[in-house]
Amino acid sequence: MIRVLFVCLGNICRSPMAEAVFRHEVERQGLADKIEVDSAGTGDWHIGNAPHEGTRNLLDEKKISYDGMKARQVIGEDLSEFDYIIAMDADNLGNLRRMAGYEKTGSIGRLLDFVPDSKVADVPDPYFTGNFDEVYDMVQVGCKNLLDTIIKEKLT
Ligand code: 4NP
Repeated sequence: MIRVLFVCLGNICRSPMAEAVFRHEVERQGLADKIEVDSAGTGDWHIGNAPHEGTRNLLDEKKISYDGMKARQVIGEDLSEFDYIIAMDADNLGNLRRMAGYEKTGSIGRLLDFVPDSKVADVPDPYFTGNFDEVYDMVQVGCKNLLDTIIKEKLT
């Protein structure tokens, strides 16, 4: 099983959106028995909460399921148990790298690393900007390219 973890700050806006969008695409491509998806936050404020209303509205609109998803915090074991640990922004990435130290981990990167022509490196935080649509567009292309990369690296 290939395991993919999306990470943001609160685990209620960006990373749950990425988890839902990525899982939807994995299922669409018939890869659900090969790729497992999860998300987590570096912060602990929203542990146990469902995704933010803005993320839920957007996923409802796109008919993408977020059934049963609840926020959790990243733990040290995640870094060795997941093959791809995908941060939404530079802060999340720095926190993950600090947590990892010199331990052997899965591949740690940023979602927009997978979008070579992206004008920005970080997915903006809609908790503060209120703009969930721009996040969806970035998440959608990032997830698509990430899945293509995983298929190339692990499944072909
Ligand atoms: P997220 O957004 O990292 O995309 O889930 C945030 C959600 C909550 C907070 C910050 C960012 N907060 O400070 O509570």
